[in-house]
Amino acid sequence: MKALYVRLLRALRGVLRTTGLLRLLDRWAARSRTGLWVRSWLSIYDLDELVRHDVPWWTFDAADRVEAFLRARPGARALEWGSGASTVWLAARCAEVVSIEHDVDWAASMRPVLPTNAELRVVPPGDARTRLTREVVASAKPGFADLDFADYVAEVDRVPGVFDLVVVDGRAREACLERAVGRVAPGGLVVVDNVDRARYRDAIARVEARLGGRARVTWTRGRTPTLPYPTRTALLEPSP
Ligand SMILES: C[S@@+](CC[C@H](N)C(=O)[O-])C[C@H]1O[C@@H](n2cnc3c(N)ncnc32)[C@H](O)[C@@H]1O
Repeated sequence: MKALYVRLLRALRGVLRTTGLLRLLDRWAARSRTGLWVRSWLSIYDLDELVRHDVPWWTFDAADRVEAFLRARPGARALEWGSGASTVWLAARCAEVVSIEHDVDWAASMRPVLPTNAELRVVPPGDARTRLTREVVASAKPGFADLDFADYVAEVDRVPGVFDLVVVDGRAREACLERAVGRVAPGGLVVVDNVDRARYRDAIARVEARLGGRARVTWTRGRTPTLPYPTRTALLEPSP
């Protein structure tokens, strides 16, 4: 179903390009948020186009808030789980970005677009069935059973220092969030995407409970690049 939808949009993009209408749409996108949103539907899963649109794959509202946050913190360091157009977007707004990625093929497609201040750390999942010596960190995503993301989550421990911004947008997000909170600089921010999913909201509630009121969460919901329906992204400030 998803593949068919993407194929249809690609076909539509081809038709619009041939007829010259894509150029009109591009012009609309350059001067209007609504135009950019509509144009981005045709860019679903297309990394080059998403980079050109200069959008992370979070709600526009969340991206605006993060952009304002980073503007007020020149020289910011960011860390994200889940690379993509966001990696390039962050690199344009931060001094340094470290992105942890589980997918070797996706990482290869990222290399040509990576700016010099972005570092991609590729940590593929292990086989959970052969892991005998320690606890497995699973992903609840369909098709990912039997995979262990413990090393992927723990990769952050190999990166020294603290981060002004941490983005949790890859696999095993609950475990990443737990790990992220201790690595955020004072006044820093954590982005958790797709909090439409109850398990991510529960993970945020657990962090809030653990921090005992020393956290503020902003829930955004609305238009998101490439998607014709609203989604939700949360911003967590561990020590307001
Ligand atoms: C939710 S995506 C991460 C999106 C990224 N943080 C962004 O905002 O652009 C999670 C995983 O999907 C893959 N991925 C990222 N961007 C993608 C895209 N545009 N199309 C298809 N897969 C993507 C990568 O393996 C990534 O780790």
